Amino acid sequence: MTQKTLAPLNTMPIVGLGTFKAEAGVTRQAVIDAVKIGYRHIDCAPVYGNQAEIGSAVKSLIDEGLIQREQLWITSKLWNDSHLPEDVRPALEQTLVDLQLEYLDLYLIHWPVAVKKGLFLPTSAEDLVPLSQIPLAETWQALEEMVGVDLCKRIGVSNFSVKKLKDLALTAKIKPFANQVEIHPYLPQHKLSKYCQDQEIMLTAYSPLGSPDRPERIKVENEPVLMQEPAVLTLAEKHGVTSAQILLNWLIMRGIVVIPKSVNKERLKQNLDAATFKLTTEDVKQIDQLDRNRRYYTGANWTMEGSSYRMENLWDE
Ligand code: A2P
Repeated sequence: MTQKTLAPLNTMPIVGLGTFKAEAGVTRQAVIDAVKIGYRHIDCAPVYGNQAEIGSAVKSLIDEGLIQREQLWITSKLWNDSHLPEDVRPALEQTLVDLQLEYLDLYLIHWPVAVKKGLFLPTSAEDLVPLSQIPLAETWQALEEMVGVDLCKRIGVSNFSVKKLKDLALTAKIKPFANQVEIHPYLPQHKLSKYCQDQEIMLTAYSPLGSPDRPERIKVENEPVLMQEPAVLTLAEKHGVTSAQILLNWLIMRGIVVIPKSVNKERLKQNLDAATFKLTTEDVKQIDQLDRNRRYYTGANWTMEGSSYRMENLWDE
């Protein structure tokens, strides 16, 4: 285990393990491999369907004495069906049961979107609950209470725009510790990044590699493939690294936490080692040219005909 991977206690390690799309049967081993390689940060969510496997891996690593709970940073998220204040604590408690933990390091509101209790994705507009019925401020207040009862050390949000962060600030007693959003060269999120920096809100990038294994329902025809962008491949060759390392390095040097998902030992290592070389100003300029304000996760699940959620009020753009 190398020194660079050991984050000081109480900070969010800048490279974490993404677990969205980590499939049943392989997730447990991937988490064990990751921690043995040096990962100290695991990003989870109940909706990924694999928290029990992650919990089993973490427990066995702790039981074997390979790691202590306090050396790990574990994030999870409140699913959209539990935004009602009275649903927050049971949802968090279930996540803790699944992960076999007594507390989370960070608990996030997964989406600024509510669905009816018990639902994963809506199949009709009636499955969605407008924010006017369950305001985010009320869900946030319930999360604040979870810090008070020591079920999580910090709270934050995910998929929040600058506008939603500003709205939340009007009533929040605790400032969000982090906002987790999609960020990569096609969607560099400069405005959000500047705001979060000014407000001292950590920014975490999901899909930092362009999420090539995203679910079929998310894919559209002829989408650009980030890891195969000629500019990225050229820089990878120049530095003698992989295109994934170029993409992660570009984020890390902006102070953005990355949570690349991998279930492969070699790629897990590569991703953790992404900060071990330096991109030049000229390299960064070339990556910056890839900006096309393009999301892989558009939020189309929430904006079906008849829904109160529209692209405009989801992303506030
Ligand atoms: P695998 O799990 O087989 O390694 P994202 O984090 O943007 O969602 O991307 C995850 C996808 O990228 C997965 O398909 C994962 O495959 C793949 N991946 C992760 N790390 C690397 C890497 N270093 N090189 C190439 N592909 C990678």
